[in-house]
Amino acid sequence: MVTIPEYYEGKNVLITGATGFMGKVLLEKLLRSCPGVKAAYVLVRPKAGQAPEARIADMINCKLFDRLREEQPDFAEKIVAVNSDLTKPDLDLSTEDQETLTSCINIVFHCAATIRFNEPLKDAMQLNVLATQKMVNLAHRMKHLEVFIHVSTAYAHCDRELIEEVVYPPPVDYRKLIDTLEWMDDKLVSLMTPKLLGERPNTYTYTKALAEQLIQQECGNLNVAIIRPSIVGASWKEPFPGWIDNFNGPSGIFIAAGKGILRTMRASNNAVADLVPVDVVINTTLAAAWYSGSQRHARPRSLLVYNCTTGGINPFHWGEVEYCINMTFKTNPLEQAFRRPNVNLRSNPFTNQYWTTDDEDNHTVAQGHDGAGVLHEPLVGVEHRQRYHAHEPDGI
Ligand SMILES: NC(=O)c1ccc[n+]([C@@H]2O[C@H](COP(=O)([O-])OP(=O)(O)OC[C@H]3O[C@@H](n4cnc5c(N)ncnc54)[C@H](OP(=O)(O)O)[C@@H]3O)[C@@H](O)[C@H]2O)c1
Repeated sequence: MVTIPEYYEGKNVLITGATGFMGKVLLEKLLRSCPGVKAAYVLVRPKAGQAPEARIADMINCKLFDRLREEQPDFAEKIVAVNSDLTKPDLDLSTEDQETLTSCINIVFHCAATIRFNEPLKDAMQLNVLATQKMVNLAHRMKHLEVFIHVSTAYAHCDRELIEEVVYPPPVDYRKLIDTLEWMDDKLVSLMTPKLLGERPNTYTYTKALAEQLIQQECGNLNVAIIRPSIVGASWKEPFPGWIDNFNGPSGIFIAAGKGILRTMRASNNAVADLVPVDVVINTTLAAAWYSGSQRHARPRSLLVYNCTTGGINPFHWGEVEYCINMTFKTNPLEQAFRRPNVNLRSNPFTNQYWTTDDEDNHTVAQGHDGAGVLHEPLVGVEHRQRYHAHEPDGI
């Protein structure tokens, strides 16, 4: 069996979502650890007046790419920015680009998605389901495709007690939903959304589940694997420890706690904080493509699913998160902290409620014991904006 870098040697790779959190790490790791890779084509839409090429040029200037730049100064020559908006017909690809991609791509990583939990259902369907369908259609036209990797989420099936490495029946047939959403206006869709979601908490997990079904139904003879990470956090080791570029989910909570702004949060101390470092997820993703791709003639064709989660062997609980946050930020304080970090995760809704009250103008208000209110910008990544009261006299 070839090694991972050997497998990628001479290959043309296509990545969607390369400007996103995980896509960037994927691009960096692929180029750094597999120096024989021929080219990385990245589908990028223009944004804020910047063309795809300019966006990529900006992106590779960031610290994440420092190590790669040092090891391979000419790495940028291998990145080909292709203009594409995944929500537009034909992915908005020019005929020329379609011809190039269908004739040269060997491996596809489909990472792009909307990860906003509260995205309107129609928009979440557009990107998470319909764009996946367009990518699969493009993949069918690729003459030299060896493997198609779809990045899903471990929470696509969060309504289940046990999530095995299989695709589960979807909440509704995605084809029927696509047809229905076509004639419904936005108001009707938003009225219908809670009923459609059923046990699922949001449109994100719902549409990611539908995308998995779409992949299974429409992959035909493509060699496909699905990666399901849980909550993706900062890097563990690569390219250096602690890299992250967003305040989504727990990262925002950690920063707010470290700054001393967040003092109380409702969480079950015994629940598993299923955080996986981004470099672990990306290594799994690259290895999954290597396995499926290099074994494509040796094993019967089947859709492989990889749950990339912490699992049950060595679980890390939210109760431990509280201890780690407080200890870490006391030992290594953040710059310009508002006061000493001391977050409390409370499973009891009443005690949490006691320390948390919504303020009418939707600003985050942190109050010291002397009652002096201090206004802060709303916490990034935390959907509900709340008033946080200090509950001990340590103050500022
Ligand atoms: N982050 C997590 O904790 C986590 C956990 C489990 C699974 N996942 C999955 O991992 C994948 C990547 O997540 P992420 O955290 O990297 O997300 P992200 O940072 O929000 O990145 C999303 C990417 O999709 C691209 N995109 C969005 N709309 C597009 C469009 N219309 N046309 C072209 N590109 C478009 C974005 O491009 P722009 O820069 O142009 O916006 C960006 O590159 C997703 O499939 C997600 O479901 C993430």
